[in-house]
Amino acid sequence: MIVACWSVKGGVGTTVVAAGTALSSSERRGWPVLLVDLAGDLPYCLGVADQTGSGVAEWSSTGPMVPADALSRLCRPVAPALELLTRGSGPLAEERADLFVQLLAESGRTVVVDCGRIEDSAFASTVAARAHRSLLVTRLCGLALRRATRAPLRPSGVVVVREPGRAMSARDVENVLHAPVVAELSLDPAVARAVDAGLFVARRPRSFSAAVDAVTGRVA
Ligand SMILES: Nc1ncnc2c1ncn2[C@@H]1O[C@H](COP(=O)(O)OP(=O)(O)OP(=O)(O)O)[C@@H](O)[C@H]1O
Ligand SMILES: [Mg+2]
Repeated sequence: MIVACWSVKGGVGTTVVAAGTALSSSERRGWPVLLVDLAGDLPYCLGVADQTGSGVAEWSSTGPMVPADALSRLCRPVAPALELLTRGSGPLAEERADLFVQLLAESGRTVVVDCGRIEDSAFASTVAARAHRSLLVTRLCGLALRRATRAPLRPSGVVVVREPGRAMSARDVENVLHAPVVAELSLDPAVARAVDAGLFVARRPRSFSAAVDAVTGRVA
């Protein structure tokens, strides 16, 4: 099962949603989960920013003779039952995206992918299009929804990050995008503080974990 998280506007919380979804799924089910970073911020978000080195970019730029287990050898443990595949450096070679999705699907794990802003990378866009669940992460913002209707990709579900004072509802989102809202998260300063302190794995708020459980509950 591949779950792709993506956005049409930057800074909405996509990376935090992907990290929280993967952590919650691995903790709750004890089922092996692979978290894949195609945007570059997950090591920092998870407090493992020292774990740099080769990742998806290097794998995608190698020729067809790359060993079958090359991808799995790039994965690093970040929590019990959770491994991280980092983005690496350089471009993500679009022509390798189909094989990448196939290998993820064959991994036998729940795979959560941070695809970032969908218009930034053709590779990430292909992954999001082929994923079993393709989740748009968005604020309740009219401009974001307008942009989402023009995106090259239709989401199979939407994760809403709710800011105080917004007049829109989840129903408005569903009416505009014709996709179900699978989770609604609040903008919680404790989430931002946990990320900033590099303590998101150990100290993210319970309310946040409960909210993203709605994502994993419907996908795993
Ligand atoms: N639910 C939340 N509550 C409070 N702060 C949050 C929440 N989700 C994300 N943030 C904060 O908002 C900022 C942006 O989050 P994040 O990096 O996940 O967004 P993004 O959509 O991945 O951004 P980018 O487009 O740059 O990749 C970060 O400072 C993060 O800590
Ligand atoms: Mg991000």
